[in-house]
Amino acid sequence: MFDTMTMTKAVGAICGSLLVLMLVNWAGDGLYTVGSKGHGGEHAEGELTQAYTIDTGEEAAPEEGEAETVDVAALLAAGDAAAGEAVFKKCGSCHKLDGSDGVGPHLNGVVGRNHAAVPGFSYSEANLALAAEVWTPEALFGFLENPKQYMPGTKMAFAGLPKPEDRANVIAYLAANP
Ligand code: HEC
Repeated sequence: MFDTMTMTKAVGAICGSLLVLMLVNWAGDGLYTVGSKGHGGEHAEGELTQAYTIDTGEEAAPEEGEAETVDVAALLAAGDAAAGEAVFKKCGSCHKLDGSDGVGPHLNGVVGRNHAAVPGFSYSEANLALAAEVWTPEALFGFLENPKQYMPGTKMAFAGLPKPEDRANVIAYLAANP
């Protein structure tokens, strides 16, 4: 009799534990696998899609590109020659604006001048290959950010001007020195 009672308690305890485990398991399914089950599936999928859009920012990329194009034109238009004269000190060790060449070619009238157009200056093959193209403000803006990346093989040993305002200002200064 005593044994039967013990057995009953033991079986009861086991059943109770199993029930709790099943409940926990079921609750866990509901909580952590939202979307793969029928319940709340559509809402959950919507939420998941939204979460991915925010994480990757895929749709934002083209907008950034457009914004940058607008910025270049606006920045160049706002270029300040006086501020550019100060920036040009970084170029002055190699470039002059008195028509004579140094380590680099003179830069008189370089805005609107063809690439590699100073007679007698020993340009790189990379720059000579572009001799048919004009140094537009936009081209200078790209080149001066990172010369070696813009023109692989260039002889211009200059790290670049990372600040867009510095580039716009120095281009305005160059444009003011024909
Ligand atoms: C360490 C020397 C050095 C510095 C500093 C330097 N440059 Fe140059 N630059 C050169 C050389 C050398 C070339 C010729 C590049 C070639 O042929 O590949 C050149 C070429 C150029 C050209 C193309 C000229 C042409 O006739 O095609 C421009 C524009 C230019 N530099 C602007 C600048 C500006 C603006 C700065 C300052 C922000 C600067 N450089 C700083 C050495 C330098």
